[in-house]
Amino acid sequence: MKSYAAVDLGPLHDFVEFTPASEEFRADVMAGLALPQKQLAAKYFYDARGSRLFDRICELPEYYPTRTETAILRDHAGAFRTLIGPHASLIEFGSGSSSKVRVLLDTLESIAAYVPVDISREHLLASAKELAEAYPDLRVLPVCADYTRPFEIPTIPGERARVGFFPGSTIGNFTHEEAVRFLRAAAIDLGTDNGLLIGVDMPKDAGILHAAYNDTAGVTAAFNKNILRRINDELGGDFDLDAFEHDARWVAEASRIEMHLVSRNRQRVHVGGRSFGFAAGESIHTENSHKYDVGGFHTLAARAGWRAVSHWVDADRLFSIHYLRVA
Ligand code: AVI
Repeated sequence: MKSYAAVDLGPLHDFVEFTPASEEFRADVMAGLALPQKQLAAKYFYDARGSRLFDRICELPEYYPTRTETAILRDHAGAFRTLIGPHASLIEFGSGSSSKVRVLLDTLESIAAYVPVDISREHLLASAKELAEAYPDLRVLPVCADYTRPFEIPTIPGERARVGFFPGSTIGNFTHEEAVRFLRAAAIDLGTDNGLLIGVDMPKDAGILHAAYNDTAGVTAAFNKNILRRINDELGGDFDLDAFEHDARWVAEASRIEMHLVSRNRQRVHVGGRSFGFAAGESIHTENSHKYDVGGFHTLAARAGWRAVSHWVDADRLFSIHYLRVA
């Protein structure tokens, strides 16, 4: 573990860095583009630009998850306060702009610390700084890490309990196996007797889903193509962004939205000294966004050693929040 001395977040704060190496990005891209169904991992959307685009997605009229989840959090703030109790530390996996957690920070009693964990270093630091200014008495301990891998949570003085916070249905971006692995690792990171508050998007009308992932302003398309821009900028690739089309489809059998980048024509692309051929219409699979009903999610959580304590769903049954404890 190393502290990054150049970042001054103030006296209550420390910064822990496990920033993923760019070598890993290169290796994953080369391997993914060589597969018969080309694929790139969704976690690579989130450099500073991608994180900003994602923040814009969350404000789109078509993208119902953010406002629905925030409303559930607000409506049930009292229940979270009772369940979590005083002197807990909150560990947010994939904290992004740390906006939803504010509902909890405004609600919970004497929080021991807030630990935002995110892969995007610049975005994490900017958000942690903003949050530390808004909550001057809160201990904020940002950790830059790929939370899909094991990482160490800093020791927190005065902590009575540890509660993970994983909003936004990011769990849906994992395959079922990856989700179980993440939930198992979270149970270990957080330790026994601790809890996890997690947001999970639900299956619904295909039209609502299609609109949410194919917004008319084209922000989701720009977010999807940002992964190609990163390959060009960071790995010296020569992707022509206009030669690929954003495509998000609801795959009912798998209960998921799949995002792809579809080649508009036959072309060759070069990355890191290798060349990759595309047929017209061939796609790169960039993201899955699984939707779980309450029972399906509880089954998944149980496979990872978590027991469902309570859950809350909005009136239109679009989105759910679950409180789990280590079984
Ligand atoms: C972060 N994640 C839960 C978003 C989702 O809905 O799967 C990412 C996203 N992709 C396209 N729009 C939003």
